[in-house]
Amino acid sequence: MKLTEEWARALVDRAIEARENAYCPYSNFAVGAALLCEDGTVYAGCNIECASLSPGNCAERTAFFRAVNDGQRQFAAIAVAGGPKGQEPDSFCAPCGVCRQVMREFCAPDFQVVMTDGRERKVMTLEELLPMAFGPDNLKQG
Ligand code: THU
Repeated sequence: MKLTEEWARALVDRAIEARENAYCPYSNFAVGAALLCEDGTVYAGCNIECASLSPGNCAERTAFFRAVNDGQRQFAAIAVAGGPKGQEPDSFCAPCGVCRQVMREFCAPDFQVVMTDGRERKVMTLEELLPMAFGPDNLKQG
């Protein structure tokens, strides 16, 4: 599916909305994501932290895991918005390395990642964000 202007705008809106549910009492940094599946379904996700820190999950992976759990396997794009809790995003929030690797698991190199600083959008492909990645192909037998 092509990431049209309409889709990009709608995904950013959903990502910003998803920030409202962020559970981030330790970082106070609220992130929302909105993942567009090839069938047009959108899955939102927020970051979820934990007192012992390492079990926490990023917004992007929350969205991916919700979608994969529902049987989705084909993805077109994801929007990400992050910033201090209770404030509008004012800088671009790029996916962390772990989330990029999860994207690599399920998505083609031309998967689109939309970031926003609250005013403008930046769109990058997964290949640009994670060049020369280790992925499922590396483990294929013969
Ligand atoms: N975080 C995300 O959810 N997505 C990103 O792209 C960057 C970081 C979360 C993890 C943690 O809950 C908080 O933001 C601060 O790192």
